Amino acid sequence: MASIATKIASRKPKTTSTSRSKSSASQKEQTLDGLFKDELKDIYSAETQLVDALPKMAKAAFSEELQDAFTKHFEETKRHVERLEKIFNRLEIDKSEVESCKAMEGLIEEANKIIENYEEGHVRDSALIIGAQKVEHYEIASYGSLCELADVLRYPQIKNLLGRTLDEEEMTDEDLTGLAQEINDEAYEMGQQEREETY
Ligand SMILES: [Fe+2]
Repeated sequence: MASIATKIASRKPKTTSTSRSKSSASQKEQTLDGLFKDELKDIYSAETQLVDALPKMAKAAFSEELQDAFTKHFEETKRHVERLEKIFNRLEIDKSEVESCKAMEGLIEEANKIIENYEEGHVRDSALIIGAQKVEHYEIASYGSLCELADVLRYPQIKNLLGRTLDEEEMTDEDLTGLAQEINDEAYEMGQQEREETY
């Protein structure tokens, strides 16, 4: 039986260099290095969108602890943007090639809907944490993959910069999980009190 490694090695790309030039992917560099740069551009767009969105989320939070968590992450996010700009300089990536990250556009739109749909209070806070954790998980997936690519492509310093950001995203996610436990409890208790007063 052929090993997985043999099976992978025996697979051939479906397109030849001639047919590839005619395909819809013709604008993309078909290398791991090209993919790495594209993913860097994607997360750069995501981070810059987040710099704009986080102050609004902090303002919308009812709990002071959640406001502080969003404000702290806003400051960190500005550093994440700076790290990516450093990487762009090293790899000579042109910022004008950055396209808007659709995933982050959607996640921020959802956060805005939360603010519209829920009045200020514990339940809105619970919902904001869910929205923020969805954002964090997108970023963790992106930075985790970028660290792996940086490793394969032998960019140790860049991997180090990306790894620092990944650590901060993971810490933020953990902090939000801790806050969710407190805030969900409070939201539940408030709901119970209201129910008791009504019935
Ligand atoms: Fe970030």
